[in-house]
Amino acid sequence: VRTIFDAVEERLPERLALAAKLIKEHSKAPLHTVTVENVMGGMRGLPAVLWEVSGTSQAGITYHGRTLRELQELLPRWPGSEQVSPEAMLWYLYTASVPSAAELAQFARELVRRAARLPAEALRFCDALPQDVDSSAQMIMTLTAMGPHSQFAHALAEGVPKAQMWRHALEDALDSHIFVPLLAARIYANKFRDGQGKATPLNVHGDMAENFAIRMGRSGDKPFTELIRLYWALHMDHGANVSAHSMRLSSSAWTDPYPTMATGLIAGTGILHAGAILQAIQYNQSMLAALGPAPSPAAIDAHVSATLAAGRIVPGFGHALLRGVDPRLAPIVKFVQGCSLPPESEGGQLLQLIGQTSTVVPAVLRRRAPKIKSPAPNVDSLSGCLMYAFGLELDFVLLVMACSRGMGFMSQYVWDRALGLPIERPLSITMDQIVAKL
Ligand code: MLT
Repeated sequence: VRTIFDAVEERLPERLALAAKLIKEHSKAPLHTVTVENVMGGMRGLPAVLWEVSGTSQAGITYHGRTLRELQELLPRWPGSEQVSPEAMLWYLYTASVPSAAELAQFARELVRRAARLPAEALRFCDALPQDVDSSAQMIMTLTAMGPHSQFAHALAEGVPKAQMWRHALEDALDSHIFVPLLAARIYANKFRDGQGKATPLNVHGDMAENFAIRMGRSGDKPFTELIRLYWALHMDHGANVSAHSMRLSSSAWTDPYPTMATGLIAGTGILHAGAILQAIQYNQSMLAALGPAPSPAAIDAHVSATLAAGRIVPGFGHALLRGVDPRLAPIVKFVQGCSLPPESEGGQLLQLIGQTSTVVPAVLRRRAPKIKSPAPNVDSLSGCLMYAFGLELDFVLLVMACSRGMGFMSQYVWDRALGLPIERPLSITMDQIVAKL
């Protein structure tokens, strides 16, 4: 059975040859003309960030050329699960190949085995943090403090040849795939469970989601474990979005994987990015409080119109890049339809409300905010509410998201080192310099 190291190494010659060919034969070929609109508009539409594991377009993401729908068909499930296995998704991102059942089993075992390496100092640091600091901030600090445990950083200090760097990056990356969920669960235990269960034995035959559930105090909670699998597999990568691009930029200077992930988490707190997940929950809660359960379309229309008239955004709709419905929404909607939350619970009512707003709000936005390029519901409209409906505290939802975004980016991190890509250093340009060029 191939290990992940074998599978990356197998792909390496072809990718190195392609990179060399592009640089040697096509260096000056234009891909796009940089317009004033690109520069003034947050680089929107500019194909400028080389990404090995995925490509994005207005229709959605493709992972090594395959759509999400194709991967939902192709990627294996963990035994007993209906969701795409996050480990299978990771394997695919690293290797561009679908893992066999044996490869998946071995890969998952390898990740859980690495849990024993989680440094005691990191756990002590994490436990010593003040509990009024929010969960994401605790993880940001813990990851930043993990630097001395980075095998990549040690290899750099010892002068490892450039061509071998990816191996050390992959060592850290594999450690982090299990360390980060376990640290997240520890933060949860410290903050919300008086420290209970933070050392509950892991299941060495289980996958990451199952072991996360064990440490979250939800051992054997199959719907929760399935939700985590769904969520992690879906959110690993979305091209050069704010969190991923922040990690890319930071790591292009050979920042080690742990603080790199902290960078992504910091960027993710912005409310125009992953922070929108919290905004969407709070907005839906306030709508529920104002209108009661199952409001009429007219009541939703009036509520949303009042939000817009007050100059506020309606969280959960529109996307910086996508121009249709985000393909990641369909599997989440399917999951919601298949789960049996009591309809009278707050979570059940929120999910029902989102079902209604997803059809009513786009029409209101089209009428009242015609500048919004695509008023379709985005993935944040539903994903955070679903976590919340499954009993996760508001404060913790972002951290569940961050676990998978960090995992997914590590595949890019490893390939950046494998391809020997340079530090990111674009030119800055002032408005006066733009005027001088016109
Ligand atoms: C994400 O996956 O982080 C969001 O869809 C944001 C984005 O891709 O720009």
